[in-house]
Order: sequence, then C-alpha cells, then structure tokens
Amino acid sequence: MTDVLSAEESTSSSDGPWAVETHDLTKRFGKRTAVNGVDLLVPRGCAFGYLGPNGAGKTTLIRVLLGLTHADAGTMKLLGHSVPRHRDIALARVGAIVDEPRFHQHLTGRQNLQILAAAREPAAAGRIEAALDRVGILHRANDKVAKYSMGMRQRLGVAACLLGDPHLLILDEPMNGLDPAGMADMREMIRSLVAEGRTVVLSSHLLDEIERTCDAVAIVDQGRIIRQGPIDALLAGSNLEVEIDCDSPETAGSLLIQNTYQAKVTVVEDGLHISLPVGTARDVVAEINRVLVTGGVSIYRLQENRASLESWFLEVTSRLGESE
Ligand SMILES: Nc1ncnc2c1ncn2[C@@H]1O[C@H](COP(=O)(O)OP(=O)(O)OP(=O)(O)O)[C@@H](O)[C@H]1O
Ligand SMILES: [Mg+2]
Repeated sequence: MTDVLSAEESTSSSDGPWAVETHDLTKRFGKRTAVNGVDLLVPRGCAFGYLGPNGAGKTTLIRVLLGLTHADAGTMKLLGHSVPRHRDIALARVGAIVDEPRFHQHLTGRQNLQILAAAREPAAAGRIEAALDRVGILHRANDKVAKYSMGMRQRLGVAACLLGDPHLLILDEPMNGLDPAGMADMREMIRSLVAEGRTVVLSSHLLDEIERTCDAVAIVDQGRIIRQGPIDALLAGSNLEVEIDCDSPETAGSLLIQNTYQAKVTVVEDGLHISLPVGTARDVVAEINRVLVTGGVSIYRLQENRASLESWFLEVTSRLGESE
C-alpha cells in the first residue's frame, strides 16, 4: 500500500508551484540552531537567492535539503516530492554544488564528467559534450582539472549538475572565489538556465550578486528567514535613497526644503543625500532633478542609491544579531 501511495504522490505532486517547499525546518548542532523554523517557498522557473551573512545557516539548509544531514524538525519537498521519503525520485532531477566542487585533479574535465555520468541514468553520458559546451569549457575538456582556474572548476561543477538534466539546481555560493568577469559569466549562465525553465537556488552573502542575478530572495540571519519574496516587492518596501553631486549643495538643499514628496534632505560636502519614503515613485527622482536644474544648480551625478536595499539588509541582520 505504501508503494501505491508513493507512486501516486510521486506523479501527482511533482508539478505543484514550488520547486522547494519547507515548513518549520530546523537543524541543530548541540545548543546552536543553524536552521531555525524555516518556511521556504521557492517558485518554479526562477533564480532564487538564499542570502545571509557568514554563519547564517545557508550551507546547512542546503545540506539538509539534499539529505546530506538530517533535519531535527519540519517537513520539506523538492520538486513536489516529499523528502527524505521520496528522496531518490526528487534528487534524480536536482543538480547541486555544495561548498567547492571536488574533482579528480589528475583527470581531465571530460574524464571527470564520464565518471560522474556512469553513476547516473544511462542518458547522462550522452549529455557530457553538450554540458561542457554549455558552460564554455569544451575547448579545455582534455586538460587536467589540476590546471583549471577557480572559474573553470565552478563551470565544470555546473556541467556536472547538467548531466542529470536537472529541473532544480542548488548552488552553494557559486560566486565564491570568482573575479568580476567570472561572476558575470556565472550570472549569465544562471540566467540562461532559468530561461530554459529550470529553477536555480543559490546561496550568497553578497547582496549585490543576489540582486543582479535573482528574481526572488529569502534573507536569512542566524538560521531564521527574515524576509522572502520577489526582489521588486522587497525593494518597494525599503526607502529610496538618492545621492546627488552638484556645484552648490547649500542652494540645492534650500531648493528642496519646501518639497511635497516628504524627502529627508541632508546637505553634504559635495552634494545632497536624499531619503524618500517607502513606496515613492521614481518620477519623484526626475522631479527633484528638474527642480534643481531649473534652480540653476549644476548636477554632476545623480544616483538612486542601490545601497538602499543593502543598508536595509544590514540593518535588519545587525538588529537581530544584537537581540540574541
Ligand atoms: N557540522 C557542524 N557542527 C557544528 N556546527 C556547525 C556544523 N556545520 C555548521 N555549523 C554551525 O551552524 C551555523 C551555520 O553554519 P553554515 O555553514 O550553515 O553557515 P553559512 O551561512 O553557510 O555560512 P558561510 O557564509 O560562512 O558559508 C554556524 O554557526 C556553524 O558554526
Ligand atoms: Mg556556507
């Protein structure tokens, strides 16, 4: 009877809306709770960032999801399949890189993939060349991995994931150790995987990378999810900061004193810092620009502060840190 139920569940539940779904997931190491009552909902077909500072519990969550360590409490589903109960069915379509990908250094990239493919379904061997091509290392496939750069190893890691034609990829800190060009490549690769309809969950402590790469995010601190949702929606919930460099900050400040958009204006040495309330439309930024230029101020730089989400993120995480 259990088998019949399993088969039904494995087919009927595999196409729900969530690629990852956890409820009250908890993992403790002695007195330390590394994953603390996590309710995570990752929609299918997006790039999803699991964002948190060092020690927030990102790797531990991923290890729990993959069954590399057991949860102390809670439930989870991958691609609609309950794990650990249907772990094998679920993981057949999950590709993951946890920590740094490990390969046989004395073998070539292609040989490493051949070994990994042999351990998977028969179709995996047929995906090797396409996977190497896909991640841009086909031309180095006959070099020993020992000669690969960090970025090439990361790429080979992604190629290894692709051997299983994954619907879900889980990448722990995929940008770690990469130079800016390598990060840009990785970002592009992740976006192209999502464009094919796959779901990519990546962890990072770099807000900027998550913002650039992901559609949605969960912000985690000390094992707890503080916020999650589409990045646009989270941004809409934070202040809009504007930095302006101009020739006469005092004049500029006075021009904005009687503004109607509830701006908090601070005059600094070479310009203004302006903080606008949650939900302010971007048109207001254009209006501020107009007012200043019309008032005879020369503007050298005007920037909607991308750090606004960052400062908000830091504020939230540090506040929680203090209360512990
Ligand atoms: N095997 C373990 N035994 C004991 N404690 C552990 C173990 N693994 C992780 N921890 C603790 O759990 C907490 C979360 O660690 P984890 O590695 O998941 O964080 P992280 O968010 O991945 O951090 P980082 O950004 O540094 O990779 C930390 O306090 C860590 O010390
Ligand atoms: Mg980690």
